[in-house]
Amino acid sequence: MKYGWFDDQNFEYVINRPDTPLPWINYLGNEAYFSLISNTAGGYSFYKDARLRRITRFRYNNAPLDSEGRFIYIRDDASEKPCFWSPTWNPTKIPLDSYECRHGMGYTKVQSKYSGIKSDITYFIPIGHNLEIWDLVITNDRDEPADLSIFSAVEFCLWDALDDATNFQRNYSIPEVEVVDGIIYHKSEYRERRSHFAFFACSEPLAGFDTQRENFLGPYRGWAAPLAVEKGEAGGSICLGWQPIGALHIKVTLKPGEHKRIIFVLGYHENQEEDKFDPPNSQIINKKHVKPVIARFLRPEEADRAFSTLRAYWMDLLAKLQVNTPDVHANRMINIWNAYQILITYNFSRSASYFESGIGRGMGFRDSNQDLLGFVHMIPEQARDRILDLAATQFPTGGAYHQYQPMTKRGNHDIGSNFNDDPLWLVLAVAAYLKETGDWSILEEAVPFDNQPGSEKPIYVHLQKSIQYTLERLGPHGLPLIGRADWNDCLNLNSFSNTPGQSFQTSTSKDGKIAESVFIAGLFVLAAREMKAIARRLGNNDEVDGLERSIEKMGKAVLTAGWDGEWFRRANDAFGNPVGSKECQEGQIFIEPQGMCVMAEIGIEDGKAQQALDSVQKYLACQHGIVLLSPAYQKYYLHLGEISSYPPGYKENGSVFCHTNPWVMIAETKIGRGGQAFDYYSRINPSAREQQSEIHRCEPYVYAQMISGKEAGKQGEAKNSWLTGSAAWNYVAFTQHILGIRPDYDGLRIQPVIPSGWNGFTAVRKFRGVDYKIQVKRIGKGNNLQLSVDGTPISGTLLPIPASEVAEVNVSVLIR
Ligand code: GLC
Ligand code: GLC
Repeated sequence: MKYGWFDDQNFEYVINRPDTPLPWINYLGNEAYFSLISNTAGGYSFYKDARLRRITRFRYNNAPLDSEGRFIYIRDDASEKPCFWSPTWNPTKIPLDSYECRHGMGYTKVQSKYSGIKSDITYFIPIGHNLEIWDLVITNDRDEPADLSIFSAVEFCLWDALDDATNFQRNYSIPEVEVVDGIIYHKSEYRERRSHFAFFACSEPLAGFDTQRENFLGPYRGWAAPLAVEKGEAGGSICLGWQPIGALHIKVTLKPGEHKRIIFVLGYHENQEEDKFDPPNSQIINKKHVKPVIARFLRPEEADRAFSTLRAYWMDLLAKLQVNTPDVHANRMINIWNAYQILITYNFSRSASYFESGIGRGMGFRDSNQDLLGFVHMIPEQARDRILDLAATQFPTGGAYHQYQPMTKRGNHDIGSNFNDDPLWLVLAVAAYLKETGDWSILEEAVPFDNQPGSEKPIYVHLQKSIQYTLERLGPHGLPLIGRADWNDCLNLNSFSNTPGQSFQTSTSKDGKIAESVFIAGLFVLAAREMKAIARRLGNNDEVDGLERSIEKMGKAVLTAGWDGEWFRRANDAFGNPVGSKECQEGQIFIEPQGMCVMAEIGIEDGKAQQALDSVQKYLACQHGIVLLSPAYQKYYLHLGEISSYPPGYKENGSVFCHTNPWVMIAETKIGRGGQAFDYYSRINPSAREQQSEIHRCEPYVYAQMISGKEAGKQGEAKNSWLTGSAAWNYVAFTQHILGIRPDYDGLRIQPVIPSGWNGFTAVRKFRGVDYKIQVKRIGKGNNLQLSVDGTPISGTLLPIPASEVAEVNVSVLIR
């Protein structure tokens, strides 16, 4: 069953009923002010950091899930009995005569009709400003005049979202507001150490307002039926303590056919510390700087201009790569939604979604490095800055803080470090940056270790440390020690936790000298190959030789100690016993080492790679994708950590963990099986799963972290949508390996491995200032390629760098 459809022409997903299986959300903002917004306008807003500068409240895990957000009520003032509804359906949930939500690139529109009154609302954040616009057009489609009241409301958060949700003995006393010239200012803690405040304003004269929640809602009432709305009159309450809100009341009279545009602006502003108050020795917010900004965006022509700028911004980003393949689902994901999702992961890493509270997790070291693989071609300058921020949270050992806070850019001590895969992802990120941009100067950029002034070393040294970090931590079989965990946060082989509630990732009971990871071995080979390519281009020949020896040695360790007979083992536990082996009772085969080792080209020559991938197909693949492991753990194993704490078929215990599937897709292309790679791609492609939305439940336009697997009680149900490495990796697998449009150190490589049933594809790729127009035609069933550049055949798959004045290159590829 479907709840909407893809409007590819407009780069939108259109939802045509409000009661989607879960709230289907979108993100607004791409610099400092951000909002999460659901298809019924739920969600919240924050400035830079979802924990430390939360602007509006959202109560996670509420019933219903999406209870807080941007409330609008329309009231029929002429009706004898109270008659009001919400044009976004929530929170009144009065059934609307029509409803449509369009999630687009950085905006969301909700259009609905009730009792002859039409409303169109567009929500977006103007580029360069710390505010959101709710642009409402209300139309009277009745044959008679309509007397209407419009109420809008938000509930303010007291900035630190964790404290706001826990420290009520203080928080019921501190809220303060000002209401001046029809604008509501939320200024809790402004008198003391904060110099920032929030504001809520409207383009029309107010009939009334409220700022105290209980006055607006009425005692013992909720947002579905506020007393002020029922009565048609706000009370002018000034909040002192309790729950601060911003509620605005406007009255409009519309003739038949007439419409009115009403703009609301909700935003955030920081004053200079010394300029906080006006008059200076008062306690009143200085509004001199913010008022012109508010006034500007309440003007319709300014709102229109800001909206066009936003559209153009997104179209420009997406134009970096556009493809036309025989598969509609792949086209719309690559051209629109997958690229969009990757940029959202750039902004938020894993911090704020409907599954991530914005409180617990900052920017992940591993996560952000991997996300970069997907966004580097769209925002290379930001990618460069991100690399420098990440490298600055590395320790002198080469290890890294697992996470850092976006506001402070400092490593998070609560989570700490010793996730032994972390440093290697930095090598892959820098390699991707070099390949995309050719900007080798980044290697000389000096950044500190652990943000300590004076410890600055060039990025190149940071990379060397990353490689050394693994080599200095090898276990009894010559495989890398796993530490707290590798990519799989839940395979905690040194934790042995038997205390309820204890974190598996921060508790350690073993010295960590035995448990090894085959996955990190594969990742090491992959990263060391990149390091070697970089070192060679810098002329560091000794280093090249050393890396070559390490790669060979590690490859051998994988093919001996890491090989189980039919597939790659996952690890050795703290007793030296294999994990992910036929010898195990459960968890006999894991996906990660099959994907990673073959991506690193281990076992391709002797057929082990193919054997491993055949085992994936046989033991792990199911209709919803490839599960992480099989058989799933039925009971809790003390020596394996968090993994077996999950019920079978969920999360790391055998769900389809979408992040890992693309590794297998890439691996399949390494052995020439494009058809198999594309088959796996399609199984988890959200658009291709749209038809079964009632089973999948999450948004059909973005990847989710997981889909419950073949051993789950309820199969095929997605969870944790939006903020996941699945976004970047699926994009990379499809565009760089199936379509084979792959940036390389010395230019763009075109090396497609497409299904035998495809007759070809076309693509436009902007690369280092040149537009590459690529046309691929299949004339035989194999993978043999003949490339021509502007009509002239070339040998190999690397396009020569064009002369500097060339802006466009036409590439044609014949596959036979
Ligand atoms: C989550 C984490 C990621 C980790 C994965 C597997 O997606 O964000 O860092 O690799 O889980 O445990
Ligand atoms: C949990 C999750 C895992 C995530 C980790 C981050 O273990 O299962 O996916 O990466 O938390 O702390």
